[in-house]
Amino acid sequence: MSRCAARMKLKGLTVGMLTIMSLQNACEDDAQPWNTDPKSTTGSGGGGGGEAVNNHGEQMFRALQNEIVSACGSCHTTGTDTPFLGSPEDDNPDPYVSITSWPRFVVKDAVTSKLLTWPNSAEHAGSKTDAPLEAKIQAWLEEEAKGVADVSKETKPTTTPFKPVMGFNAIYLDSIDAKFKGMAITFTADELTPKSLSIVDLTVHPKNDLGLALKHPLFSFYAQGSDVVDPDPIDSFSNVEENYEAGESGSLGPGTVILTNWRSGGKLSIAFDVLETIEPFDPGAGGGGTGPGSGCVAPQEFMDNAVGPLQANCTGCHGGNNTTATNAVDMSALGDDPETTCGQLRNRVNFGNPAQSQLFITTNPNGNATHPYKFNGNGGTFNNFVNALTAWIEQEGA
Ligand code: HEC
Ligand code: HEC
Repeated sequence: MSRCAARMKLKGLTVGMLTIMSLQNACEDDAQPWNTDPKSTTGSGGGGGGEAVNNHGEQMFRALQNEIVSACGSCHTTGTDTPFLGSPEDDNPDPYVSITSWPRFVVKDAVTSKLLTWPNSAEHAGSKTDAPLEAKIQAWLEEEAKGVADVSKETKPTTTPFKPVMGFNAIYLDSIDAKFKGMAITFTADELTPKSLSIVDLTVHPKNDLGLALKHPLFSFYAQGSDVVDPDPIDSFSNVEENYEAGESGSLGPGTVILTNWRSGGKLSIAFDVLETIEPFDPGAGGGGTGPGSGCVAPQEFMDNAVGPLQANCTGCHGGNNTTATNAVDMSALGDDPETTCGQLRNRVNFGNPAQSQLFITTNPNGNATHPYKFNGNGGTFNNFVNALTAWIEQEGA
């Protein structure tokens, strides 16, 4: 009880009744149905409240934490470009939370984890993992994998379960099928209480050259270490059916959901009744392809203020060299046809609150977004970038 009370955060009071209800529920002693579900392959620990799943992932990581921090921490803690080890000194963010939230690290088939494959590939700028440490990391990832549901057995297209970060998240849909490469659903998550998760700004990002049709997205929850699926009890998006044309991001339904079946440390997945690509309209036919919403509004301000800083900081990856980056946000036309890139980047801007634009949240050296570039940890360079692009954003949204 006291542990529960201590962990409770009184946030998000603006959501009114829902928050009050979830706060009242937050500390009841709970025997959760998902903990005793006979389908569970991880077993039920019982007795310890909602978190008692018999998976030793966290203990195993804690046992190797110092070793991985001393081998890799100089380039992978908070303040570096790829801070998947969080902040081991003050646990803010906690290394276990950071490493298990990092995309493509905790996966069903542990040997394919990017944490194992990347350091020993020619592409890695840092050191290789030495064999004894690698064996420990692999054993730990295999334990974590027991708590990753095998969504390939689902009848509906379902994303690989992911652990959301409290903040900005980008969930790439290529875990469902390679044809969705570069398409993502982005959102901001915030734990209202240890038992309710608010998800806002839900946005669907198709690609420049390919749209996306979806029907009835359903969020599901998995307790920490468990592979037992627990769907959103309210089925919040049951009526959603939408088409997102190539190059046009848009809100997923109302863009907001509060998951009342959430428990701290858990994972989520998103399943769909229908998920399909849509071929773009033929831009040659009748009047060009820049319909309202997709075109650049302030090309001159974009060229004067944004092109230089983007070339200095972003096109090294988003300009074509790094396919994963370019698939996600395509800046390859920046030099020849800045207007097209401007039209693309509009989709990553928050006109109501420019500082909250995805272009900035993902790259903020002090933020916890799982993005591989953060201005080498330099807050001054980041601020210059924000100021320069904001001059364009203010005209673009005017
Ligand atoms: C000298 C600095 C340095 C050290 C030490 C280092 N790395 Fe890296 N690592 C980088 C840089 C820079 C990147 C981003 C560019 C790249 O992929 O090479 C990176 C990228 C990665 C990635 C890919 C992350 C992603 O999502 O793209 C993984 C995984 C990784 N490192 C693991 C490790 C492990 C494990 C260790 C310790 C055994 C380690 N690194 C030590 C510099 C380092
Ligand atoms: C070291 C390579 C690299 C650099 C430099 C880089 N990015 Fe990225 N970026 C990526 C990758 C890779 C992804 C796709 C992430 C994924 O698939 O998980 C990405 C994705 C994104 C996204 C989509 C949201 C997300 O988090 O996935 C945004 C927005 C973004 N980058 C903005 C920027 C901006 C702005 C800059 C320049 C200030 C920049 N990036 C520089 C590699 C890079």
